[in-house]
Amino acid sequence: MKILLIHGPNLNMLGQRNTALYGSQTLAEINRLLQQRAGELGVEIAPFQSNSEGALVDFIQAQSPQAAGIIINPGALTHYGLSLRDALEDSRLPVIEVHLSNIYAREEWRARSVVTPVARGQICGLGWRGYIAALEFLVAELRKK
Ligand code: DQA
Repeated sequence: MKILLIHGPNLNMLGQRNTALYGSQTLAEINRLLQQRAGELGVEIAPFQSNSEGALVDFIQAQSPQAAGIIINPGALTHYGLSLRDALEDSRLPVIEVHLSNIYAREEWRARSVVTPVARGQICGLGWRGYIAALEFLVAELRKK
C-alpha cells in the first residue's frame, strides 16, 4: 500500500521558517519520522515537495493511480489553490489535509481552505505529530475496506 505525502510551497524551509508556529523539525526530519512509522505499519510512503502548484498537480496525476491515499499540507495553496483542489478530487483517493499550525487561530484568510471540501478530513495545530495521526488514520481506514 502506497501513500503519497505531499508538501506545498515554502514547506522546504521548515526548520528555519517561523519555528514558534511550525516547529523546529526540517522537512527531511518530518519525512524520516513518517517513513519510520510507515515501516512499522507495513506501508510505503512517497514524499514530494514543490513550491509550484503545477508540479503538485503533475505529481498527483502521475502517482495517484498507484496510490491508496494522500496526506497533504498544501501550504498557502490551501487558501486559493483551485487546480490543486481539482487534482485531489480527480484522484478519487482519500485525502487527509494536514497543517502544522492551527489555521483557525491565525489571520482570518487562513481559516478558509479550498481543499477541505474534497478531503476525508483535516488535522491542524498538532505540529509534525499531525502527519503521524493522518498516516495512522489512513492506514486503519484503508485496511477496514
Ligand atoms: C500551513 C498553514 C498555511 O496557512 C501556511 O501558508 C503554510 C503552512 C501549516 O502547515 O500550518 O505554509 O499549511
